[in-house]
Amino acid sequence: MTRKRVVVLGATGSVGRTALAVISEHPDLFSVEALVAGHDVDALAQLARSYRPKMVAIADEAGALALKSALSGTGIETGAGPQAVIDAACIDCDIVVAGIVGTSGLLPTFAAVKQGRMIALANKECLVCAGDAFMAGAEYYGSRILPLDSEHNALFQVLDGQDKKFVTKMTLTASGGPFRKWSKEAIDSASVEQALAHPNWSMGPKITIDSASMMNKGLELIEAHHIFGIPAERLDVLIHPQSIIHGLISFADGSVSAGMAMPDMRVPTAHCLAYPERITSGVVPLDLAAIGQLSFERPDLVRFPALALAHQALAAGGVMPAVMNAANEVAVQTFLNGQCAFGAISDIVFAVMEQAVGWTVGERSIERYLAVDVDARRIARDIITHYATMRL
Ligand SMILES: NC(=O)c1ccc[n+]([C@@H]2O[C@H](COP(=O)([O-])OP(=O)(O)OC[C@H]3O[C@@H](n4cnc5c(N)ncnc54)[C@H](OP(=O)(O)O)[C@@H]3O)[C@@H](O)[C@H]2O)c1
Repeated sequence: MTRKRVVVLGATGSVGRTALAVISEHPDLFSVEALVAGHDVDALAQLARSYRPKMVAIADEAGALALKSALSGTGIETGAGPQAVIDAACIDCDIVVAGIVGTSGLLPTFAAVKQGRMIALANKECLVCAGDAFMAGAEYYGSRILPLDSEHNALFQVLDGQDKKFVTKMTLTASGGPFRKWSKEAIDSASVEQALAHPNWSMGPKITIDSASMMNKGLELIEAHHIFGIPAERLDVLIHPQSIIHGLISFADGSVSAGMAMPDMRVPTAHCLAYPERITSGVVPLDLAAIGQLSFERPDLVRFPALALAHQALAAGGVMPAVMNAANEVAVQTFLNGQCAFGAISDIVFAVMEQAVGWTVGERSIERYLAVDVDARRIARDIITHYATMRL
């Protein structure tokens, strides 16, 4: 494989650090060109000293001076604020790891798309918020989108260029999260600590809460719809607690192919970074005999209403996925701040979606979807303020 130049957006987070860990395994194959983070100046500066990029950028303008002084004398260019983040995302490279969390990642990632870059896309909220505009932009600018999310990565590998007209169903598996066997009442009053205790995956706080509510699987359904161009009725979710099979594709002749791997993000990350070649990821080989049994269950939409809301948003199309995503981001942060109950997350999302019935997309642009995102966040915050005592 010829040496690849990599930009990591969200370098200080779980996805970003996983990408850097894989890169560290192959110092001869990769160079790091730029690193981007949100607020954590110290962590970003430390990574910059290790990986020696040309540029680092922090979204939080207040971190400008601290970042500059932490890296003075290194020759590494520093920047702060939204434009600096976009400049770093656009620096010349072979692949951009899109690992910013939430809709904050949309503009920087799309800026890289506009440069025609190959994108290893983890930041699923980009596609949930503005999937049709994002994918149309990728096609227009010649940007290849490689799914880094484990389920979509497995499906991408299983599909392997086959014509999707032969695909009768794409199934995303879900571990079921920490509340798989809990009653609805217990789930609704779960603590932050309980919701953050994911059984199989170690990830950032937002996606971990989304996994506990199963909103994550809902976001992934919408992500799959846009990445693979598969309609909602041919997308399915299956609970698989061992997280060994990540995705299944059913074909017209009755064949079903499964994408399997250890539940470790280094696997899809290595796949994306090396694509179309293969490199080692540092993950132990899959030993099915040691695992013994793989089991499966249907998802329970009553105990996990967030997944039902995502099905509704996907079916409704238009602005509804963007509305749901924005409301969910606000609600999850409110829960993480200890200001609402776990069960209130889906109540808030539902209430915002109800208010958005009848909203039209108009022009399908990134800017339009971001405007919808802003409106939905405002409504979510109003609802939270209005029902401040809801389920507290
Ligand atoms: N973690 C996983 O295993 C996994 C798997 C599949 C998909 N994903 C998806 O990947 C994305 C990242 O997840 P994560 O778990 O890695 O999250 P995380 O650990 O919370 O990391 C988020 C990263 O985004 C940065 N960030 C936050 N706001 C920013 C902004 N406005 N501008 C620039 N950077 C910003 C953070 O910087 P600071 O540290 O400075 O705040 C951090 O580097 C999410 O969309 C998630 O759904 C994650």
